[in-house]
Amino acid sequence: MADSDTYLRQPWSTVHGIPMVNAFAHNWERIDTFQSRPEDIVVVTFPKSGTTWVSEIVDMILKGGDPKKCKQEIIINRVPMLEFAAPGKMPAGTEQLEAMASPRIIKTHIPAHILPKSFWENGCKMIYVGRNAKDVAVSFYHFDLMNKFEPHPGTWAQYLELAEVGQVAYGSWYDHVKDYWERRKNHPILYLFYEDLKEDLRREIAKVARFLGRELPDAALDTITQQTSFEAMRDNPTTNYTMVPSQLMDHGVSPFMRKGTAGDWKNHFTVVQNERFDQDYAQKMSGTDLRFRTQI
Ligand code: A3P
Repeated sequence: MADSDTYLRQPWSTVHGIPMVNAFAHNWERIDTFQSRPEDIVVVTFPKSGTTWVSEIVDMILKGGDPKKCKQEIIINRVPMLEFAAPGKMPAGTEQLEAMASPRIIKTHIPAHILPKSFWENGCKMIYVGRNAKDVAVSFYHFDLMNKFEPHPGTWAQYLELAEVGQVAYGSWYDHVKDYWERRKNHPILYLFYEDLKEDLRREIAKVARFLGRELPDAALDTITQQTSFEAMRDNPTTNYTMVPSQLMDHGVSPFMRKGTAGDWKNHFTVVQNERFDQDYAQKMSGTDLRFRTQI
């Protein structure tokens, strides 16, 4: 059995040219050959963009808005992460998924061009969540401080430089958000924005329900809106990740449910960092009509 010391706080491995969490990279063939089912629902994001939030929303929709049913099991078992692996510690995402009844909700951060082909071939519905790059960088930095699957991020200044050139898990934020944005033209992808969820959660939940063909009565919509507020999910042990052993995630360093706001980047970026970031951003996002809001 593998010893977690061999993969915690280790440098990236690379899969198909993309930096990948060391523990997840082992035996990547299990991902390349993963068999989807047509009724699978894929929640896909660049890390720290609201994955857990939308996973909980989708699961609540499928369960008709019944919080009791959702609270019976922790989120990582209700919505397994496809590429997750912690050899010797926890079951791999692919093993969990193979044993699961349909319809499965599958979480992943894998960039579009290396997502298992089977999802594209089967026309599986995907819900993409994008969040502005500055808040993602701040959230990812704090996550890397507490999450031992990642290398230590160093200082904020060091981390930001790496993030800008895509030297973080899953590579370039720019490539990730743009590729799924383009692919939505030819594949059933609902493209959501974290900032829109913050602005009007009920409206966005209704949008997800419609996309899934599961229109909900008003009362269920109200319940899901209440149960998926930041405060409710932060205080819910099945969604706040406190169930993950502290050798893997140390909430004392930074809680998983950290701030849950749009615009926290203003508390971390210096004026110089912000100017440099904006210049680089304009160049990398030229030629796309994809727009993010950095505040609401
Ligand atoms: P912050 O670190 O900015 O607080 P992911 O699930 O993709 O890892 O994203 C985690 C980010 O989403 C964290 O951001 C977390 O606080 C935020 N988040 C999780 N649930 C949320 C909710 N119900 N409302 C608002 N933000 C939420």
